[in-house]
Amino acid sequence: MTTATTGRTAAKGAVGTAHPRVEGRDKVTGAARYAGEIPFADLAHGWLVLSTVTRGRIRSIDTEPVLGMPGVLAVLHHGNAPRVDTDYVGLLGIRPDPTAAVFQHERVPHAGWPVALVVAGTPEQAREAAEALVVTYDEEPHDVALTADHPDAYPAAGHMPAETEKGDLAAGLAVSAVVLDAEYTTPEEHHSMMEPHAATALWDGGRLEVVDSNQGTTWIQGELAKMFSLDESSVRVRSEHVGGGFGSKGLRAHQVSAVMAATVLQRPVRVVMTRRQMFSLAGHRSPTTQRVRLGADADGRLRALEHRSLSRTSTVYEFVEPSAGVARVMYDADAHRTANHVVRLDVPSPTFMRAPGEAPGSFAIESALDELAERCGIDPIELRLRNEPEVGPVSGQPFSGRNLAACFHEGARRFGWADRDPRPGLRRDGRWLLGTGTAAASFPAGAGPSTALVTAEADGTFTVRIAAADIGTGARTALTLIAADALEVTPERVRVRIGDSDFGPAMIAGGSMGTRSWAWAVTEAARELRERLTPGTSLPPEGITVRSDTTEALGALAQQERHSFGAQFAEVAVDTTTGEVRVRRMLGIFAAGRIVNPLTARNQLVGGMVWGISMALHEEAVRDRSTGGLYGPDLAGYHVATHADVPDIEADWIDDPDPDDPVGIKGVGEIGIVGAAAAVANAVRHATGVRHRNLPIRPDRVL
Ligand code: MOS
Repeated sequence: MTTATTGRTAAKGAVGTAHPRVEGRDKVTGAARYAGEIPFADLAHGWLVLSTVTRGRIRSIDTEPVLGMPGVLAVLHHGNAPRVDTDYVGLLGIRPDPTAAVFQHERVPHAGWPVALVVAGTPEQAREAAEALVVTYDEEPHDVALTADHPDAYPAAGHMPAETEKGDLAAGLAVSAVVLDAEYTTPEEHHSMMEPHAATALWDGGRLEVVDSNQGTTWIQGELAKMFSLDESSVRVRSEHVGGGFGSKGLRAHQVSAVMAATVLQRPVRVVMTRRQMFSLAGHRSPTTQRVRLGADADGRLRALEHRSLSRTSTVYEFVEPSAGVARVMYDADAHRTANHVVRLDVPSPTFMRAPGEAPGSFAIESALDELAERCGIDPIELRLRNEPEVGPVSGQPFSGRNLAACFHEGARRFGWADRDPRPGLRRDGRWLLGTGTAAASFPAGAGPSTALVTAEADGTFTVRIAAADIGTGARTALTLIAADALEVTPERVRVRIGDSDFGPAMIAGGSMGTRSWAWAVTEAARELRERLTPGTSLPPEGITVRSDTTEALGALAQQERHSFGAQFAEVAVDTTTGEVRVRRMLGIFAAGRIVNPLTARNQLVGGMVWGISMALHEEAVRDRSTGGLYGPDLAGYHVATHADVPDIEADWIDDPDPDDPVGIKGVGEIGIVGAAAAVANAVRHATGVRHRNLPIRPDRVL
């Protein structure tokens, strides 16, 4: 027996101090293992075969020749695969995307639809056989083109109401001194995270084990249990390190096909998506066409605001990119109307992708505000400050905190905005035209129920167990600091174990809610444990464990508009002879709650801003109307910003603790990308005098 030495000794406060990632050394030395590289005895490898047509039916799959190829163990397809259940509602009310429920019928609803899994002894054997498998189809005509006036578009809710309306828009526009009516478009975009989706499934003594790369192990556990009609307790999902998620790493074809194959063959089976397969199986951001109408008095005060967005989804699954939602939080007007519409086309299912809605929506509305400022002859920051709403423009609820103005003041000071000459096309540096731009950012700050286990170990250390996912955000490190402070010990005495569904239900790494939700549960359990460990408490060999559950605490949260805010600034140089746009510097100032770890929070915010540059200038998946597929679905054809495209980026924050959170956290996951592309586009306008309403701002569009 040991005696508890915790207590009120080491309470300097770890939260708010820069702390390198606790798994950083493992990651840079290669000791950290990812889902596709963890060894298993007797492991077989599955290779997905995707449809080569865009719409139609599978007529035949000629498995015989392939089954005779070296090492081939099985070919799964709609004629022989286990049946699964897709008629359920999963976590957060989300229904399963049938693209993940593979091999259930012969229909092909889009290009790159999974039609078979070839399983073999090695990945090379599986791939060779998969590429040799002959599948024939009865083809049908398809439609993949999103057009602003598509006749089949309809209002669609997704995770927020489809439409909101107050006041008389036509009347508001009619009495406005200045009116803007503009259409903005953003292209199909892909998550392109470093680590492709990978899963290994095996049956171990009647229990299904899945080692996977995902954004929430209990999420995937619940989905697999429902889909395969299993008891949740007989499914275990582990996911220790994850090389990026961005909304894409939920339930997908790789886990489901691996479970099917492991069930049929009764041996461990691994399925890894190739980079090219990810472009149809991993979800993406739908292209959007957005119309913004603004009406304002001569002094810039909005009288009318309309933001309409049209995105597209697949014919098998409804996902809405809710780009008009951001206007419901950002700007008020007596006449205020927003609408998210969607059209079902013969394309792969889109999904959540970093700041779903806010990322493309902020490009449109923040570009429009910039256009309005210019027409009114008002500084774009001043225009935004004049239109700061008192309460939620649509909800009418108070803000739990809205420090947007403070972000703009601090950002303007640090960026040197006061010296800016608003006239476009005036500044030159040799062959480069120079300009600066700004935009506002916001993102919801929510929390989801979680459970955590905190153990006082007999050796004087502490172990935290929570089914959190660190998708590269630094969540594991943040939770180490959170637990240390709640226990009043130094972080060195705390070990945090995550990524295992056996630790109990927890929020996913999504919606910018992960770290906040988990921190809440860890704080509750750690505080209760500390209370129990009065000095002199004797610890049994197995230690003392406290379990928390935040379901009730979250239910008591006041109904308020709860968001993070930010001000984005960019300076660009534009070469009008080559059309090249270079971002020279960027600054983001955020009001995003209490910052747990400045090192990883800055990393997260800068990462979002880099993606904003990428969105503004590079990213575009081009879909061929005739074939229905993408041109160059890989990282050669799909351009993302590289180091050479990214300048010095500064991200910083103002003091903005959430009054209702035990630690003051709001969340920094997604806000970094919001408004970033608009700031770049507004800077290009300032540099050149040309307004770009269609992303990306490619060289050929600049010329
Ligand atoms: Mo994020 S798009 O909620 O993973």
